[in-house]
Amino acid sequence: MVEQSIWMQKVAADPGHSQWYIERFRSMARAGQDLAGEARLIDAMVPRGARILDAGCGPGRLGGYLAEAGHTVVGVDVDPALIAAAEQDHPGPRWLVGDLAELDLPSRGIPEPFDIIVSAGNVMTFLAPSTRVQVLGRLRAHLDDSGRAVIGFGSGRDYEFSQFFDDAAAAGFTPDVLLSTWDLRPFTENSDFLVAILRPSSA
Ligand SMILES: C[S@@+](CC[C@H](N)C(=O)[O-])C[C@H]1O[C@@H](n2cnc3c(N)ncnc32)[C@H](O)[C@@H]1O
Repeated sequence: MVEQSIWMQKVAADPGHSQWYIERFRSMARAGQDLAGEARLIDAMVPRGARILDAGCGPGRLGGYLAEAGHTVVGVDVDPALIAAAEQDHPGPRWLVGDLAELDLPSRGIPEPFDIIVSAGNVMTFLAPSTRVQVLGRLRAHLDDSGRAVIGFGSGRDYEFSQFFDDAAAAGFTPDVLLSTWDLRPFTENSDFLVAILRPSSA
């Protein structure tokens, strides 16, 4: 067993938290808001029919878009209510409940590595801090040697970017491109958001 994620601690403290989050995104979708910006960047980075892991997929807005675009998508999230919503709202990907710290997709019948892994929406800041390096290590283990991981989260959420870079290095990743937005603005020392495109250190 690993330490419980901060997200599931929130759910334990407020059982309505998951439903609130699901409804928030459903109402934005009904209002016609653009919920696919991150997914469009991922789509642009891979060939058609790529293998994509949506790590901490929540109710599935990225994975759903990417499956519609013709990719083979697996989404993993620790919150069963969010996975149920993803299955309902975005049929197509394989949606799985699981803690990223214990990610072992070959044991669940998915042996092939991924071309790209995306983790959007501040997932990193909802991990139990004691599991961060382990989670990044599990992502590395599921990535093809020529693949990339794209991880986005904001500052002011108790995970310093400098610590994240150290953790990513410890997990076997090297920064490829650092951005401050999903529409490709560069990362600087003053950025309050990070989109890190990482490659395996050996590659
Ligand atoms: C703010 S939501 C973002 C959801 C989705 N990525 C998006 O952008 O719409 C953060 C997500 O991280 C997931 N999460 C947090 N810790 C996790 C863990 N250890 N393993 C798997 N998922 C986790 C939560 O369950 C939640 O769905």
